Order: sequence, then structure tokens, then C-alpha cells
Amino acid sequence: MKIDISAVSYEEAKDFVKKLRRSIQQHNYLYYARNKPEISDHEYDQMLQDLITLEKKFPSLVTPDSPSQRVGAPPLKEFKTVQHKIPMLSLGNAFNNEDLINFDKRIKKELKTDTVQYVTELKMDGLAVSIRYENGMLVQGATRGNGISGEDVTLNIKTIKNIPLKLFGNIIPAVIEIRGEVIMYKKDFEELNKERERNGEPPFANPRNAAAGSLRQLDSCITAQRKLQMIAYGIGEVKSISFSTHFEALESLKKMGFKTSPEAAPCSGINEAIERCEYYKNHRNDYPFEADGIVIKVNEIALQKKLGATSHEPRWAIAYKFPPEEAETTVQNIVIQVGRTGILTPVAVFDQIELEGSVVSRATLHNEDQVKRLDIRINDKIIVRKAGSVIPEVVKVLKEKRPQNTQPFNLPDKCPVCHGPAARFEGESATRCINVSCPAQVKERIIHFASRNAMDIDALGDKIINQLVDKKIISDYSDLYYLKKEDLLELERMGEILAEKILRNIQQSKNKNLSNLIYALGIFQVGKYTANLLAKRFKSIDALKAAKEDEIHAIGGIGPITAESIKKFFASEQNIEILRKLKTAGIKMEEEEIKTQNLPLKEEKIVFTGTLKNFLRGEAQDIVKNLGGETFETVTKTTTIVVSGENPGSKYEKAKALGIKIISEDEFKKLITGGKI
Ligand code: IVH
Repeated sequence: MKIDISAVSYEEAKDFVKKLRRSIQQHNYLYYARNKPEISDHEYDQMLQDLITLEKKFPSLVTPDSPSQRVGAPPLKEFKTVQHKIPMLSLGNAFNNEDLINFDKRIKKELKTDTVQYVTELKMDGLAVSIRYENGMLVQGATRGNGISGEDVTLNIKTIKNIPLKLFGNIIPAVIEIRGEVIMYKKDFEELNKERERNGEPPFANPRNAAAGSLRQLDSCITAQRKLQMIAYGIGEVKSISFSTHFEALESLKKMGFKTSPEAAPCSGINEAIERCEYYKNHRNDYPFEADGIVIKVNEIALQKKLGATSHEPRWAIAYKFPPEEAETTVQNIVIQVGRTGILTPVAVFDQIELEGSVVSRATLHNEDQVKRLDIRINDKIIVRKAGSVIPEVVKVLKEKRPQNTQPFNLPDKCPVCHGPAARFEGESATRCINVSCPAQVKERIIHFASRNAMDIDALGDKIINQLVDKKIISDYSDLYYLKKEDLLELERMGEILAEKILRNIQQSKNKNLSNLIYALGIFQVGKYTANLLAKRFKSIDALKAAKEDEIHAIGGIGPITAESIKKFFASEQNIEILRKLKTAGIKMEEEEIKTQNLPLKEEKIVFTGTLKNFLRGEAQDIVKNLGGETFETVTKTTTIVVSGENPGSKYEKAKALGIKIISEDEFKKLITGGKI
């Protein structure tokens, strides 16, 4: 459609806008839901641009379902909470055929029948959402949250191009909630990570995290730039229409404009379902997104209703989880990485393999003992798998395939970076470089200092730190506070905007809590937990520095080795000089006096379970402590509150059994802001 936009009248525009919208929606559907584009990206962009221009000229023509509404909206301060009308349940897991046979037996027994028809479909690894349509119009999008309530992410959901803003087709229910998974395709995930690396931002660990991180943005304009997709797998609340089978429901969802569970197909019984699991296990990488299993669902809705659900999962469905993927490859090299505390870690570098959809070429071998145990050698054939779907590990060496003339690998007695001596101390499994000025250690210490749980200088990526050290612009973390814009502009791929962002971040870090600073110092054996104890007890760096070893050891939870290591840290002149530079730069080195009278959580002993959406676990614990409460890792009779995040663990059940108050993350938010819960 060719339009001379500058010349159109209101009446003409009204007509054009309608046609453009219909056309854009149709091409969206063909592209995203059907995978059959009929026009080029350029033609599509042109239509969208024309629409936006016309709507700008005649704002009264804008409607909530216009494709122009997908570009994002001004940022929100926080997400509102949505109570799910029908809970968003999780799924029980099956790991082998026996589990599936038992699932089938339970169902047949419960239904008193010999035959049950199932539907099998791929299980996508992303983030569950519920999207509500009233009279065909998208009115709300929510995350799963804890299953009972989630976050209102309507604006973000609207930016996902394969979600219809208005339902297609003739059958438009009064109300329908579509349940599905928001995912990111593997290629889009890789592209996004490359871009983040270029900008010095930390990459996402996997497509699932990327999808979740992109959807849960207060600024929907950011979500709009990420390539997300939604795949529908079910229905929540529905009014004015009904379905007799799950498969029929999926077919209707397709007609309404959704992309639905890939490979969904009815099957006659559990044996056919098992065959499919076996097949897809070997074809899981044929898909452009990460699939982590097969979901098996009873097809007939009446039977689903009869079977019902437990508080966590339906009795009519189960997830067969694919086993961790393993692959054979060849060791090219064994290299040594030097960590923050000088530990030399052997790492196997091997011919690239694809595991669970991502390309891997390195796996840690941990330490000398592990190298000996595996007897891994350069040129060996090895089996690698991904543990917990993120970190690759060497499962075994195929000794029967070992070529001739290989040599056992020994850890070097010199640091590969500074060439100073390396040694293994008695009782330790690690071999260390003992030169504290070794550039590898220096880099790692600065990376640790800037990390999220420490001083949280997030714009300062590892690559930037490496360059700063290599170019001798900085030689310890206190130098960060003396960096100038010109210093940063000397680095590769550094622009004004990023340089300013880094400097701003560095300034902001000056007021971090004392416990963050103590943790950031990188004292051997002092993790986040110990740093917290030390901050609470000593309240300033000066007091900690002056403390005697037995005073430190006297704190419950701190052992003699840690106490000795803290003393050693403060005995080093080099460290004292670094602390002096930090102080001169204006870093807050004491805990602000907290008035104890009115602390709202003074009496509370709080335990967190599950994943929090708005806080890191450590952050939430810090907040509780700042408000006078205590936090614990396990639930006991003395626990007063359990905060239950997404996918709560066994602590939730224990708290329930003990009758302890359980609150949601939103209630926790109210609690810490002084509201009623
Ligand atoms: S059905 C009441 N089908 O897996 C049944 N879930 O581990 C609810 N998922 O929370 C889920 N693909 O986010 C279903 N084809 C599929 C799925 C699927 C991915 C996710 C979903 C759910 C999680 C449970």
C-alpha cells in the first residue's frame, strides 16, 4: 500500500490505518506463528512506520491493539501484583520410563479405566506467563510468580510480536487466559550476548535467563528491543466457550493467532508417549529454542478435572526431563587459569561440541587430584556433559581410544602468568601462585571487587579490567577510584557513553554497606556471610583492622583459619596502603549507626525460600538485617517468617508443617516498606 502521508485527510487516514493494522497483524501472524513470511522485513518495517506516522498525525486513531503499541511505554516504578484466578501450577518430573509407567498406572487406577489418551508436547525452557483477553482484546499479561500471584507485565507482554493484541478468528470468548512460555531462540540469545559483551555488560548464562531478564524489565522499551517469543501450551480461566480435549484447545489457540506447543500430538497410550520421549531426547537440538523435556498430558478435559491437582502440580500431567547431554570430544590442550587468591586451576580445552544447545570448548578440571584421578592427557578422547545445565564437566577419559605417545599432565611448579613459584600447601587440594602482585591475581581481585555482591560496579566488565591492568593504568582495586575518562578512552571498544557510565558506577559504589566492602576486599576465606558477621560485630574497617585474632574467632561462625587469614590481610603493608587509598577516595568505611529503637523487624527471624524476582537473595538478607531482623538458612521452630519466592523448596513445606507464617515476595516488599501485610 503506497500512501502519501503528508497529504492524507482524517477520513482517508482512518481507512489507511485500519488497512495497515489488518495487514501488519496478518504478516505478524504469518511470520511468528506460522513461520511463513510473505513479505520482506523492509516492507514490514515500512508499513509499521507508516502506521506510526499516521497515528502521530491523528492521535485519536490510536487503539490499544494497534501494532504501534508494541514499541514499549515509559518505565514503571514497580510491577503491580496479579492474583491468578486459576493457580499456575508446576509439573511433576519423570526421569525414566519407569516413572512414566507409574504415572500412567496412577491415572488408570484413579479413573478406573484401562485406556487413557495422552498428548505429548515439547517442554520449552523459558518463563511461564498468563495472558488475559477480554472480548478478544489483550488486557493483562502476568508472570507465574509463586503460582498464586505474579507480576503485572502487560506492557512488556505487548511488545512480544507473536502475541496477538487482538484475537484472530470467529470464536471470541468473553474471557480467556492463555498460558504459555516466553522464550528466546538460541540464535537471538547468542546475538544478544555478543552485543552485551561489546557494551561491557555481563552476558546471560542461558536463553532462559535472557528471556526472564528481558521480560521482567520495568522499562518495556528494553523488552521491545529483545527478541522474545511466546509459545502457548494451555488455558487458565475461560468463559463462554469450552473445549473437550487439550488437543482441540491447542488447535483453537492456533486459530486465535498463537504459536502453540511444538510437536503436540495425541497418542493412544503411555507406550507411544514413551517412544516419543525416546525420539525427542535424541532430537532435542533440532529446535531453534532450548527444550528440556516432554510434557505428557491427559487429553480429555473432563478427565483432567476428575484427576485434579495437588497444591503444586496437576495429577493429569507430568514432565519427562531429558537427561543431561553428553558428547565425545578431543582434548586439544590443558591450560592453567590463575584465580584471585592465586589458585592454579587446570582447564581442559577441547574441540568444540554442542551441548544442550550451546557450544562449549572448555571444562574445569578443578585441581591436581582431579587431573590425576581422570588421568586426562592432551589428545585424549573424553566425554563431557553439562552439570546443572550450565557448567560443563569432564565425565571420563576414553582410555581405550588413547593415541600413542601421550604424556601424563602435571601441574606446573611455576605460575604460567608471572613465572613466580607455585606450591601446594599441606592439607590443601589447590596449588597456588604465591606472588600477590601476579597480574592474573590482580585482575581477578579487581573483578571480584567490582562484582555484584561486592561493590557492584556492573558497567566494568572483565575485559575492561583486563585491559586496564595490561596497560598498567591500574594495579589494584583502589586505583579504580582515581580513574579519569581519558584513561578509559584509551581502551579498545570504549566510547564516551560507556566511559561515563563506568565512572558513574564507580562513584555510586562509594556508599556501599560495610559488609559489601569487607567482602570486596577479597580476604581469603571471607565470603558474603562472614563479611556480614564482621561488619555487624566491628562496624568499621578500622575496628576490624585493630581486632585481635581471638576476638574475631570468638564470633560464632568464624573459624580459626578465617581469623588468621583476616589478621594476615591487615598485616600486609601493601593492603594497608590500598585501604588508605580507598579512604582518601571517599569510600564509606564504617556502618552507619542504625537507630535500634524503631527497627520494624527487630523481633523477626526470617528464612527465604525459592527465587525472588526483585532482589538477589543476599540483598534481601541485607535489608532484613538493616531493619533489625535476623536471617537464617534453615527453618526451625524459632523462625518467625518464611518468605516464599518462585519455586519454593522444602523449606516451604517445613514452614507449613510447623505452622510458621509464610509470606509472598510482595508481602515482604510491604513489610520492609512499613506497610501492613
Ligand atoms: S503445562 C498445569 N506444557 O514447564 C500444567 N508447561 O516445569 C502447567 N513448560 O511452569 C504446565 N513447556 O512454564 C506445560 N508444553 C508445556 C510446557 C510447560 C514448558 C513450563 C511451564 C511450567 C514448567 C513446569
